[in-house]
This record gives sequence, structure tokens and C-alpha cells, in this order.
Amino acid sequence: MTFRVAVLASGSGSNFEALCHALNSPHQLAHIALLICNVPNAGVLVRAEKLGVPHVVLTPGDFASRMAFDEAILKVLQDNKIEAVCLAGYMRLVGPVLTRAFRGKMLNIHPALLPSFPGLHAVRQAIEKRVKISGCTVHFVDEGIDTGPIISQASVEVFDTDTEETLAARILQKEHKLYAQAIEGLASGRICLGAQGTEFKEPHE
Ligand code: GAR
Repeated sequence: MTFRVAVLASGSGSNFEALCHALNSPHQLAHIALLICNVPNAGVLVRAEKLGVPHVVLTPGDFASRMAFDEAILKVLQDNKIEAVCLAGYMRLVGPVLTRAFRGKMLNIHPALLPSFPGLHAVRQAIEKRVKISGCTVHFVDEGIDTGPIISQASVEVFDTDTEETLAARILQKEHKLYAQAIEGLASGRICLGAQGTEFKEPHE
């Protein structure tokens, strides 16, 4: 049995597609089994259709509260026997209903070297601050905004000529690899969330 992973996304979905390509083949430990999207016309839905990955659209406006929306997501995840969740360009705060149910099993990817530039427009913030190095971070999700324990990071050089678009594109290339590696680590048990934060285990432990 492979480790069933759901992706939550709101946008273009390049991370979703990269994860499907990296993981959805027979010899992999983990498998992208489901996409949940909160934006009806998002590009990620076209990718899911093409890749043949089951997908569900849940629109926040159809629910009475944030909690009711997260409860609906939780039910879809449980109905689909999902073991881990990856936020990939999911532009919505995840509430305690989900963070508690998937403690240590919910990851996020962020386009900056956290704890620098959390929140929205991380790439723009990096350009505005004229940093020389930026990158991306995979971390466990807790109830804060991009505050959970860090799992892995990859860096890219920032050039004087960079725009938000050129830098975001260079960071995305790193994201695609880093995220798949983190999920493989979680699926194999090499990466887990302990009482003190992220723990890395040797294969023989
Ligand atoms: C990615 O760069 C991801 O790190 C970022 O949105 C982009 C989604 O791209 N996420 C955040 O900014 C979350 N705070 P994609 O839709 O092509 O995967």
C-alpha cells in the first residue's frame, strides 16, 4: 500500500504537477491520490484532469464559516483515506480542524527562506529588500502563518536584474524537487515531527 497524499492548491499548480510526475509511478512509496482546490477556475484543475488525478472543488463562499469549510475538507480527506496533506500554493489559512487532524502529516512549501518573508508576496518582499540569496522552504504546518518546523530548504541567487517573475520562476524549479524529496522522507518515516520539532532518522533506526 502506498502512502496516500492529497494536495491542496489554489493556483496554477506547477508544484502539484511536479509532485505527480515525481511520485505517481509504481515503485514510489508515496502517491498523489487527490487534489482539493478552493478556486473553481484554477489552472491546477486542468492539470489534474490531464494527469487523471481525482479532484474536488470546495468553494469557501458555500460554507457558513471557516470551520465548516475546513470540516468539509477533512471529510473529503477521510473519505479518500488520505494519510498526508501537501499545501502547494494554497492561498488560505488552514484552521485547527485540519492542523490537529494532520499534525505531523501536513506540509507546506513557501517561496522564501523562512523565517524570512512569511505570508503573502514572499518573492516580492525578497526583491524589495534586495536580498542576495532567497529560495524555498518545506515545513510542517502549524496554526501560524508559515511558522511550523522547517524540514528542508533550497537557495537561489538573487540577481540585480531579477523581477518578481524571474525570481519566482527560478525558485519554483527548486520547489518542485525539494517538495517531492520531503514527501518521500515523510512516507518512509525518515522525516517526522517530534516534540522538539522536525526529526531526521537514519534508515536503520
Ligand atoms: C509556489 O511558489 C508556492 O511556494 C507559493 O505559491 C506558488 C504556487 O505555485 N505558495 C505560497 O506563496 C504560500 N504562502 P504553483 O501553483 O505553480 O505550484
